[in-house]
Amino acid sequence: MQKLIVVILAAGQGTRMKSSMPKVLHTVGDRSMLEHSYDRAKELGADTIHIVYGHGGEQVKSMLSHLDANWVLQQQQNGTGHAVEAAMPSIEEGTLVLVLYGDVPLVRVETLKSLVDSAVESGFGLLTAKLDNPTGYGRIIRDGDGVVKRIVEQKDGNTEELKTNEVNTGMLAADSSKLRHWINALDSDNAQGEFYLTDIIAMAANDGVVINTVQPTSIDETLGANNRVQLAELERYLQQRKANQLMIDGVTLRDPARIDIRGNLTAGMDVVIDINCLFEGDVKLGSNINIGANCIIRDSILADGVTVMPNSIIEQSQVGNGAMVGPFARLRPETVLKENAKVGNFVEVKKSTIGAGSKVSHLSYIGDTSMGKNVNIGAGTITCNYDGINKHQTIIGDDVFVGSDSQLIAPVTVEDGATIGAGTTLSHTAPKNTLTLSRLRQKSVPGWSRPKKKSS
Ligand code: UD1
Ligand code: CA
Repeated sequence: MQKLIVVILAAGQGTRMKSSMPKVLHTVGDRSMLEHSYDRAKELGADTIHIVYGHGGEQVKSMLSHLDANWVLQQQQNGTGHAVEAAMPSIEEGTLVLVLYGDVPLVRVETLKSLVDSAVESGFGLLTAKLDNPTGYGRIIRDGDGVVKRIVEQKDGNTEELKTNEVNTGMLAADSSKLRHWINALDSDNAQGEFYLTDIIAMAANDGVVINTVQPTSIDETLGANNRVQLAELERYLQQRKANQLMIDGVTLRDPARIDIRGNLTAGMDVVIDINCLFEGDVKLGSNINIGANCIIRDSILADGVTVMPNSIIEQSQVGNGAMVGPFARLRPETVLKENAKVGNFVEVKKSTIGAGSKVSHLSYIGDTSMGKNVNIGAGTITCNYDGINKHQTIIGDDVFVGSDSQLIAPVTVEDGATIGAGTTLSHTAPKNTLTLSRLRQKSVPGWSRPKKKSS
């Protein structure tokens, strides 16, 4: 097997983005456009990835310095041929070079595999596409037998040549030794005064190399983003693909056009997701799950049979079998709901475990708490976990009942079977199987009358 070397061209300024951030750093889904191309190269099994970045592109290099890539600076942008030339000194002889673009993020790995295979076969593979409106693209010129002869750029083509609707996507693969030879022979004698990578096609054809062409499965694979309108279009294409995949995997989406997945969402069978939900990071859903409208779920695991009612936010949490969340609930990081637990309306939970079958149904804050099973937390209960400097733990045993509007001042423990009277401010241990309450005795004042307004 020939070594596979991927060169990603990312030196473009992207002025039409009207951004202080270089174009290739703008994101589609949860990844920058450049990282999408990088990810595909990795999936293909590239031995080395070279990223050609431009003058002023230091921000790209520093923000993506974690990528396993060789960064090549192209001082001046003298064209796509010039960009590939910048990478050539670090490319070994006898390898296969695949050229990708840092602003064309949606190409499928299967398409690139076919492109690489076609290059292995003949020494040269070119990804082309037929477009209804080919304006702006380089055109593929074939002879009477359909053999690819050259590419002509929009600005250099004559009327006859520009009638062709088969265009150059820019992505190609070729043997490194031959590529080096052709790149060295490029000149900038054309309408844009640039070194066109596309000129190597005519050179290869003249050298008797057969240029194999491959087409993508869908046109979105070849689209780049030059401005934010096109960036938004790419986002829609990506979301459509993710939604389709989910449905094929057995998930019901009430409206596939109204779901956003910025990361990886996996789901078991018979999951139903209502409209306007956003999934971020890694989210794993079991089977038989219902997610209501307008939920945001990030980096979390939901087990089988979970119900999430509308307008809930779940972040870095684990939700056990049959648990119920929402509506309007917020699970903050390190929350664990055990099986059949329930967190209801306007309840916030942080860094806490809610035991099996326990319920926190209304208007509560539970933070830094370990709660046993079959506990009932009354409406408006607050764990006072913060003294202004430190956070403290609340420990609640099994079968506890906390009356409404209670404050548990941490650190504090409520032992198994304890009952806390409504309105209690608890600051010491509540012993097991006992009623604990802190409440002023109620009194009534006979004959008392309300103050009256002075008449003027
Ligand atoms: C190029 C192709 C054209 C093809 C089109 C597909 C050439 C001469 N033309 O045209 O046939 O139809 O892409 O979109 O190759 N870049 C650098 N350094 C440079 C110049 C460009 O890194 O000096 C990068 C850009 O950042 C961009 C890519 O190369 O990612 C393409 O450059 P661009 O100027 O957009 O090429 P086009 O004129 O669109
Ligand atoms: Ca372009």
